[in-house]
Amino acid sequence: MLGIAQELNNLLLTAMENMFPEAVILATDSGKPLDPQLIIASKPEFGDFQVNGPLALSKILGKPPRKIATDLVNALLAIPSFSELCSPPIIAGPGFINLVLKPELLKSEIRKVLSNPNIGVPNVTETEDHLFPVIIDFSSPNIAKDMHVGHLRSTLIGDCLARILEFRGYNVLRLNHVGDWGTQFGMLITHLKQVAPQALINPDVIELGDLVAFYRQAKNRFDNDQSFQIASREEVVRLQSGDPDSRKAWQLLCDQSRREFQVIYDRLDITITERGESFYNSYLEEVILDLDALDLLVTDEGARCVFLEGVMGKSNKPLPVIIQKSDGGFNYATTDLAAIRYRFGVIFEGDGASRIVYVTDSGQANHFAGIFQIARRAGWVPTNGRLEHVPFGLVQGQDGKKLKTRAGDTVRLKDLLDEAIERADIDLRKRLAEENRSEEEIFIKDVSKKVGIAAVKYADLSQNRITSYQFNFDRMLSLNGNTAPYLLYAMVRIAGILRKSSKQHDTLEKQLHFSEPIEWALVRHILRFDLIIIEVEEELLPSRLCSYLFELSQLFNRFYDQVPVLKAKEPNLSSRLILCQLTADTLKMGLNLLGIPTLERM
Ligand code: ARG
Repeated sequence: MLGIAQELNNLLLTAMENMFPEAVILATDSGKPLDPQLIIASKPEFGDFQVNGPLALSKILGKPPRKIATDLVNALLAIPSFSELCSPPIIAGPGFINLVLKPELLKSEIRKVLSNPNIGVPNVTETEDHLFPVIIDFSSPNIAKDMHVGHLRSTLIGDCLARILEFRGYNVLRLNHVGDWGTQFGMLITHLKQVAPQALINPDVIELGDLVAFYRQAKNRFDNDQSFQIASREEVVRLQSGDPDSRKAWQLLCDQSRREFQVIYDRLDITITERGESFYNSYLEEVILDLDALDLLVTDEGARCVFLEGVMGKSNKPLPVIIQKSDGGFNYATTDLAAIRYRFGVIFEGDGASRIVYVTDSGQANHFAGIFQIARRAGWVPTNGRLEHVPFGLVQGQDGKKLKTRAGDTVRLKDLLDEAIERADIDLRKRLAEENRSEEEIFIKDVSKKVGIAAVKYADLSQNRITSYQFNFDRMLSLNGNTAPYLLYAMVRIAGILRKSSKQHDTLEKQLHFSEPIEWALVRHILRFDLIIIEVEEELLPSRLCSYLFELSQLFNRFYDQVPVLKAKEPNLSSRLILCQLTADTLKMGLNLLGIPTLERM
């Protein structure tokens, strides 16, 4: 329906220009050109679209919104092509205009979608847009530390956004900006050299659990023991200057963590390319040179900083971002600046990206706002280049506090996924017993694995990412509500219907015939898929796609309860089977974009 939305938007603009030429000039002069504010209707009884523009117009013109809306409707009706698309508009509320597309038009849109493998979603590969990569910086755990639920969120949201942009035809670079550099290695290597030197030679003697424990001990010593501190700092210098022994030890530690991270990625079916902080090591100097040449660097208490514009710190002084510490070392921010410079870079080296998206918890919002500002001032961001932080809230336990195990430790992701699968397994066996079904063990194992992982993914993605959410196995595994099992079950139901229908619905030739309101509601909802995808691409909110799919499943279930499908007569039978097929295709596509494979039976 994207094409129609664009056409309506143009018609509305023309009507506004015809009817309110003075407002168009006023608005353009004020730098906010008139926008019809065409949105998807919020309820089926409001039709297909809602136009909110009259409210803004009424402010500009100082006339009542209903009067504006009436005039605008008259201007629309004067354009012949408008009446080919819509029935006469209805004015509602204080002055909205509801637009209802003609049934014939909806049917021809359904026909288009039927013959389109992407359910109507346009692909950018025909445009220039796909030539410049879009970078999604996500997951990004830290070496020698556990990958925690925050990283899980980043991983799931980032993967979903990457899938959607890839589906749209963009060249997506999925980058894992792992924390593989810096002082932590100085401490860790120094400590290991003393207490477990074999770990630095033979990669098989430690696993990540041990590594994390060693890291904790090292950190503890670092905080309390001066000579250890000095030794650690010296070790960092050795590492960063390329000392072969230090490098080798570092490499082993990284490999160790990498293997552990990969286990999680494999289970979640995540593809990601590691390009850690260390990658930017040789570009850090250039950051300093660039910033210095632009006179952006200020030495403050021995450290070299950039003072942020418009961001005040304590005592109302502009807030500094430290670029180089007083001991000459660089930090997280410096690396991120080097990364931006490299990622947008084209002339000598770099990715030539058009858009960079960072998926981290909202705690890092200030960090990103700061480095984005510096990057812009340094001229590293091309005119149309987009830099976006995609923040998300915390994952909490049922007590509303940070998610912890019963013993009070941080939850290991592996255990969390195991538990989800185990519980899905128990639920499934119970349901099979209730339904008097006996299934092979291999089926049960496969379904519970898929359902368990799907439940964890969906629970995370379906929340508006800005808010924190409570992790609750019972809720996420429930067959009722906005959950993965509910959606997967709808899919299974449709697959069952389609299996039973012996009919070959060779669809395009068929006369489509819809008579019931629920059929039309389903038609309208299916046709919105492309609008939703474009919206997620812009706003980077996977939860919008989840709500869409949930509503689709609900509508489908209502449709299937209210009207006969397999027992219907022609032309209803074919038309209804087409709706079943399209619902299944859309659900499957949508779930795949969330990283969730669908099932034929469950
Ligand atoms: N390693 C960081 C953390 O665990 C996340 C890195 C995010 N990406 C970036 N370019 N800063 O919090």
